[in-house]
Amino acid sequence: MPSERALNFLIFGKYSLQYIHHEISLTFPGNGWISGQMQEILRSTGHQHTVSYVRIENREAVLSEITRVEPTHVINTAGARGNPNMDWCETHKQETIRSNIIGAANLADCCFLKGLHLTHFGSGCIYDYDKSHPWGGPGYTEEDEPNFTKSFYSYTKVTSEKILRHYPNVLILRVRNPIAADLHPKNMIVKLSQYEKIVNVPNSGSILPSLLPGALLLAENNETGVYNFANPGTFTHNEIMELLKKHVWPSLSWSNFSEEQRKILQAPRSNLKMDVTKLEKKLHQYGYDLPSSHEAMEEAFKKVKQLQEARG
Ligand SMILES: NC(=O)c1ccc[n+]([C@@H]2O[C@H](COP(=O)([O-])OP(=O)(O)OC[C@H]3O[C@@H](n4cnc5c(N)ncnc54)[C@H](OP(=O)(O)O)[C@@H]3O)[C@@H](O)[C@H]2O)c1
Repeated sequence: MPSERALNFLIFGKYSLQYIHHEISLTFPGNGWISGQMQEILRSTGHQHTVSYVRIENREAVLSEITRVEPTHVINTAGARGNPNMDWCETHKQETIRSNIIGAANLADCCFLKGLHLTHFGSGCIYDYDKSHPWGGPGYTEEDEPNFTKSFYSYTKVTSEKILRHYPNVLILRVRNPIAADLHPKNMIVKLSQYEKIVNVPNSGSILPSLLPGALLLAENNETGVYNFANPGTFTHNEIMELLKKHVWPSLSWSNFSEEQRKILQAPRSNLKMDVTKLEKKLHQYGYDLPSSHEAMEEAFKKVKQLQEARG
């Protein structure tokens, strides 16, 4: 891995502050939500970075981008997660395979051949509560065998992780129920605030403003392997709604459903707790302590309120 040169990041998964106005980008679906947030962190920390618009399954194009940019590090936030949601993947299986399996593997392999570190944003939607991991019990660790492939989206995320694990240059970050301090249509808080009924099951979640600086730390230090990329502690949808009501939308109201949900979704959804001990310990080594999911959400929602007030 290169270490003497200044770091230079090449990022796949779109959104560029250079070409698209920030406010528009944060409300434009399909433009690379996590990529945009990662680019803001790279910008705010003064890191050189380039956004690539090529398809990650296109080997020649990816290799040519690497030759053009000469990165020290590559970040992959490109992936098919479905629009408006992962049900899309059930009816677009080949497109989903192309991005989530072929594309992810191609990028990892190109980076391996070029001696480059790759940070890959994967998914935690590969587990579901079971007898050994019930509500309130132990969380899934990075070594537990994935047990949820009932949705095609999850199937592709399990498959790509199984392949990428064999690349010694790859850092895999398992994102789960991501929440950010914005009003992007893909932000879970925006989706939740629009539903009439919500499920109420404890889950792990990635409160991105508190986690993405950690992703950068891991990449800067050439860390590799798999990490559950979530905050300590679980939260239910009701707890999110209560915090949103407190900080952002005082008139918010909701009710819960459970089994009825199955009838309106094409693909089953998973519920799980992740064990984030490995991530917490590693980030602590670099002087970065992760806040609990509740603390991180409160901070994020205060920023959403400020954003709303600034917009009038
Ligand atoms: N947000 C979540 O709930 C969540 C949860 C867990 C994991 N993740 C994972 O995190 C990653 C980023 O998610 P996100 O929320 O930022 O999604 P997003 O807003 O949909 O951004 C993904 C971007 O990747 C691009 N893309 C898809 N396939 C590509 C390919 N083959 N080559 C190049 N670009 C491609 C998409 O462009 P096109 O639309 O033009 O294809 C889109 O701009 C995804 O892999 C997702 O599965 C997300």
